[in-house]
Amino acid sequence: MKKRMLTCLLLITVTAIPLFAQTHHKETYTMKSETPQQRDARMAWWRQARFGMFVHWGLYSGLAGTWKGKTVGTRGGMEWIQQYVGADTWDYAHEATPKFQPSPNFASEWAKLARQAGCKYVVFTTKHHDGFGLYESANSTYNAKDLTGRDLCKEIVEAIRAEGLKVGFYHSVIDWHHPQYDYKAAGQLPYPTKGKPFPNGPRNHAIYVDYLHRQVKELMTHYGPVDIIWWDYSKKGAEGPFWRADDLMAMVHTLQPQIISNNRLYHIPNIEKHDSVGRLKNWKPEQGDFTTPEQTIPSTGIEGVDWEVCMTLNTTWGYSDHDHAWKSDETLIRNLIDIVSKGGNYLLNIGPKGDGSIPAESIKSMQAIGDWMQTNGEAIYETTASPFKAPKWGRYTQKPGILYAHVFDWPADGKLTVPLTSAKVKTARLLADRSQTALKIESTAAGSVINLPKEAPDPIASIIAIETE
Ligand code: GLC
Repeated sequence: MKKRMLTCLLLITVTAIPLFAQTHHKETYTMKSETPQQRDARMAWWRQARFGMFVHWGLYSGLAGTWKGKTVGTRGGMEWIQQYVGADTWDYAHEATPKFQPSPNFASEWAKLARQAGCKYVVFTTKHHDGFGLYESANSTYNAKDLTGRDLCKEIVEAIRAEGLKVGFYHSVIDWHHPQYDYKAAGQLPYPTKGKPFPNGPRNHAIYVDYLHRQVKELMTHYGPVDIIWWDYSKKGAEGPFWRADDLMAMVHTLQPQIISNNRLYHIPNIEKHDSVGRLKNWKPEQGDFTTPEQTIPSTGIEGVDWEVCMTLNTTWGYSDHDHAWKSDETLIRNLIDIVSKGGNYLLNIGPKGDGSIPAESIKSMQAIGDWMQTNGEAIYETTASPFKAPKWGRYTQKPGILYAHVFDWPADGKLTVPLTSAKVKTARLLADRSQTALKIESTAAGSVINLPKEAPDPIASIIAIETE
């Protein structure tokens, strides 16, 4: 009963916001310029980290891919359930709020799992497209604090920090809840009740943009240092200026000088398309630090461009009871290696349930990666793309003085050829070999041949660390 009343309150109060918002005082911020050296210093931890955990969690998590007793789908992002069923914000909130029941210690479970998996940072959804915030806000009551009495954003930030990890805020600029968000003006960005008249008449997008800026300001000032801001998303027709993106970025960088940001506030470039690559090379640094191929690994890296692949463990970002298409440990670990061998980061998603608990399959997968990282993390963290073409048997990563051969297909004859002359190679050892015995190396015309034991220490990927001159 209490909850129902709250839902009503949430919805009624937010419709009253625009009147107040129009008179709100606007602050101006200017983006400080940065030398390439300063930028490199700011980006250093992120480039070394290589592996992060993404978390999609919000009202949709409790719905779990089911709407009024019916399965909505078995594949695809169920954080979009409101859009898939075409529900307005009232109907959606009415269905979803009773099912969103965070347990007391959910956040420390997430953070512990991230650390065990070997992740160095966690990015979580402060607000997804449905518009429901996990934070406390003076600008809206459609948020976790008003619904549950808890600032869940604060709990999550504290838990991540307690595990010694960096914190990232995902924030959606699309907002299906705000009564002045105008999808028609927004280059036809997705909207659940598209085609139907807005219940509250014509909309004033500028009011929504003010609200967006005010909420982001709250996020940038209430939770201590924020390491990453992960915008989602803009497209042609609703690029930067539509969200007053330059002002937003200037504010974020003024309030959080060390923050790292993706570039989705301006556009989502397709890393495989030639025009996008050109575009990325000419990217203005103040429009974002890295680009975000989604659910796909680019065939090569891009010189001089930072990028991070985000991916799901099954096919949905937000939790679903119906999606059982879990990726194998082999796929997940080899994806990580493939990405790092091309110079990118891997942001791997979990979708906790409505009570914040993590699906058992996701825990298993993340722990399997963690076990592999225990032995082989040295070939991932602080490494960069290698100058060599990917060999048939696996991938290379490198750091100064060491080339790492990641062997997926163990050679039947026990001989692995690497494109380095014997004069270049000092020693080679298997990371999985506790005693770190030096492997025998022969010199041939094709390069150096490393003699391996008969059996692969790890059927997914075994690493040989080759020390070079
Ligand atoms: C998308 C989707 C979204 C998901 C995100 C992750 O653009 O709209 O549901 O949060 O990508 O990259």
